[in-house]
Amino acid sequence: MTVQHFLTLNDLPADELRLIIDNAIKLKSQLRNHTAGKPMVGKVLAMIFEKSSTRTRVSFEAGTAQLGGSALFLSPNDTQLGRGEPVEDSARVISSMVDIIMVRTFAHSKIETFAKYSKVPVINALTDHYHPCQLLADMQTYVEQRGDIAGKVVAWVGDGNNMCNSYINAAAQFDFELRIACPKGFEPDASLCRRHANRISITQNPRDAVSGADLVTTDTWASMGQEEEKQLRIAQFKGYQVNHELMSLAASNALFMHCLPAYRGMEVSAELLEDENISVVWDEAENRLHAQKALMLHLLQLAT
Ligand code: CP
Ligand code: NVA
Repeated sequence: MTVQHFLTLNDLPADELRLIIDNAIKLKSQLRNHTAGKPMVGKVLAMIFEKSSTRTRVSFEAGTAQLGGSALFLSPNDTQLGRGEPVEDSARVISSMVDIIMVRTFAHSKIETFAKYSKVPVINALTDHYHPCQLLADMQTYVEQRGDIAGKVVAWVGDGNNMCNSYINAAAQFDFELRIACPKGFEPDASLCRRHANRISITQNPRDAVSGADLVTTDTWASMGQEEEKQLRIAQFKGYQVNHELMSLAASNALFMHCLPAYRGMEVSAELLEDENISVVWDEAENRLHAQKALMLHLLQLAT
């Protein structure tokens, strides 16, 4: 039997992604009503983090515990991976002892190698190239707040980074139009853009991208691993801040999302981030918990 991984949103068909979102909403209500089951009893999640995290770690660890399973936090400081043991060997060994693995790392090729050698499902918890778990939470949040996202217009303002690449995949899988506004030289993955040219457009004018949009989203201008470029990037992204003035061009009931952590006064104004009529960032963050619980159950073929 082939093992089902989740390295990008393209690893699952659109109908299964929608089912995961529906199940995430169901799990959220079960947690609130104290009617949740423990389908992961006896199951172990290994969590490999080569980069920092708050939301991803807490949501996977708490989510696994809530489902009755247990989670192991593995950092490169404490494992042989950090001392140079090959990814192939680490994958074979770790996957022989646990039921499911999540990996946050730098190069996307590293998680692909890990998955190739893993006997159990591997989940991408962020690479330099993609952040698909965040997109599950974002899609759940939109559905909860506004209903189906199919046919809507989403504006991405800022760096063409891992989140932006995952938004491009989401546009295809969840059937929406994506308008990307980014400075020259900060465009998302070129081959992804070519593949999805029918649904995405790229501009250097945030106002054009946001005009009439149903959802506006952004992310930090300097991702993990780009700390040394931070000052240079602040200068290059001038004019790309999402704030009330920019949001006033969007549809009247448009939402604002940000995967967090946010840098107030940089990619988003403090006032917009805290405006609960527009900004749904706290729900979005909480939904990481519910969406990833639904994802793990799906990959483990366990009922919600
Ligand atoms: N959004 C997100 O993945 O946050 P963390 O880096 O805190 O996990
Ligand atoms: N683009 C950001 C997302 C953080 C969740 C980064 O990679 O650091």
